Amino acid sequence: MNPILKNNNFNRLNNNFDQLKEAYKSIRTNIQFSNVDENIKSILVTSSKQNEGKSVVISNLAESFSSLEKKIIIIDADLRNPTIHKIFGLSNELGLTNIITKNKELEDCVYKDEVLGLDILTSGTIPPNPSELLHSEKVKELIDNLKKEYDYIFIDSPPIGIVTDAGILASFSDGVIFVVGSDEVDNKMVKISKDRLYKVNANILGVILNKYKCNQNEYNYYKETD
Ligand SMILES: Nc1ncnc2c1ncn2[C@@H]1O[C@H](COP(=O)(O)OP(=O)(O)OP(=O)(O)O)[C@@H](O)[C@H]1O
Ligand SMILES: [Mg+2]
Repeated sequence: MNPILKNNNFNRLNNNFDQLKEAYKSIRTNIQFSNVDENIKSILVTSSKQNEGKSVVISNLAESFSSLEKKIIIIDADLRNPTIHKIFGLSNELGLTNIITKNKELEDCVYKDEVLGLDILTSGTIPPNPSELLHSEKVKELIDNLKKEYDYIFIDSPPIGIVTDAGILASFSDGVIFVVGSDEVDNKMVKISKDRLYKVNANILGVILNKYKCNQNEYNYYKETD
């Protein structure tokens, strides 16, 4: 069983890992289709506000891709509220910020999860000036270099409706996935966020409606019967 899927309490509550895995597979397929015409390697995940599920979505999506034997790295670029290290149970002593500010090497900071088959770069030490740091040419350079080594780079970010950091990251990511937490955000806020993404010429690959409480019967469409 996928440890990320298993470790999330909400998945236990949903009591249906298979449906969840299918949902991520379907998102994965859609991303792969987007890749037919464009070479999409760096994918930013953002949302309008906090708590809509960005970090959980990115973790599950990265794992779904790594099961295809793709070379994957997750980067925690949410320098306001980093959580990727918590989801994967890692230390956050060394990470992205240490590469950007202290000239640490990637190899010193990246964690290789042999079980899940993916690499993780946590945020690292939290700086007082996150936006400035993300503006640094070094972040773009790092991601460009990673593209030579990885099939997909998944970048976690703070909410674009609240702070500008995600806009900076979106401007140099190949694609953006926009998470909408069902019942967590209103249309106005979603529109503001979408406009911010368009303003930086973000390539919005699609929207994931998260935390949607569906009727079990709606989803059991293809379930085998006895
Ligand atoms: N599909 C879901 N169903 C129920 N709970 C969920 C779902 N997705 C995420 N959650 C829960 O919602 C909370 C917020 O998730 P997460 O940390 O991924 O959000 P976030 O958008 O990254 O927040 P932040 O902006 O603060 O980084 C967590 O407790 C997580 O377990
Ligand atoms: Mg998060």
